[in-house]
Amino acid sequence: MNDMLQIQGVKKHYNIHKPNEIRVLNGVDLTVKKGEVVALVAPSGAGKSTLLHIAGLLDSANGGTVHINGTDVTGLDDHARTAMRRAQVGFIYQFHHLLPEFSALENIVLPQLANGVPQADAEARALKLLTSVGVEARADHRPAAMSGGEQQRVAFCRALANQPALLLADEPTGNLDPATSDRVFEALMKVARDEGLAALIATHNMELAGKMDRVLRLDNGVLVEA
Ligand SMILES: Nc1ncnc2c1ncn2[C@@H]1O[C@H](COP(=O)(O)OP(=O)(O)O)[C@@H](O)[C@H]1O
Ligand SMILES: [Mg+2]
Repeated sequence: MNDMLQIQGVKKHYNIHKPNEIRVLNGVDLTVKKGEVVALVAPSGAGKSTLLHIAGLLDSANGGTVHINGTDVTGLDDHARTAMRRAQVGFIYQFHHLLPEFSALENIVLPQLANGVPQADAEARALKLLTSVGVEARADHRPAAMSGGEQQRVAFCRALANQPALLLADEPTGNLDPATSDRVFEALMKVARDEGLAALIATHNMELAGKMDRVLRLDNGVLVEA
């Protein structure tokens, strides 16, 4: 079973039955396999974040089904959704959202402790991840003492701390200058490859999108090969 994310016929409409109904997703079909990095491109407002939030169990659809790592998550209650999200999904946003009072290492250790991983194992994994994205020298630094690119690379490591099946990223380099964005993107690709992840990455940057395995475009609420 290599389909880490499987979305079928997903619909998301806002303001349903009102004159100003917004039909964002109109039957999205998408499969992301283990080891596959897929770019999601579309203009602002097209529904990229909406789709990522549904895939990441942060929001629910009005129709269709979502499977994560072989499990149908469509009808799960809140408790089960949260457990599934914690165990299977890593999410990266445009802004790093690291905890300011903790070091880079601690930011990656804490989610593992919450998941029952022993301290020494959690630290070893955190250091391995930091090393794989080239920021191990910042392990003891708090976020405020790191550059934007370093903060974002630490955020990747945190998203991967608990070995998720699926990585979702919402314009992860959107906040960075072009040179930093390229470097950070390389780090993201490397760590995704090292970990054999299934990844869905929304971006405005067509050059970066072209470096991924497939590029899909949201067009009038459906996905088309770009
Ligand atoms: N909670 C909401 N209520 C009503 N409309 C929303 C809500 N969230 C998003 N939208 C609308 O859905 C559309 C898609 O938004 P979004 O998924 O954020 O697009 P993108 O990430 O591609 O910029 C936009 O028109 C947005 O205004
Ligand atoms: Mg968005």
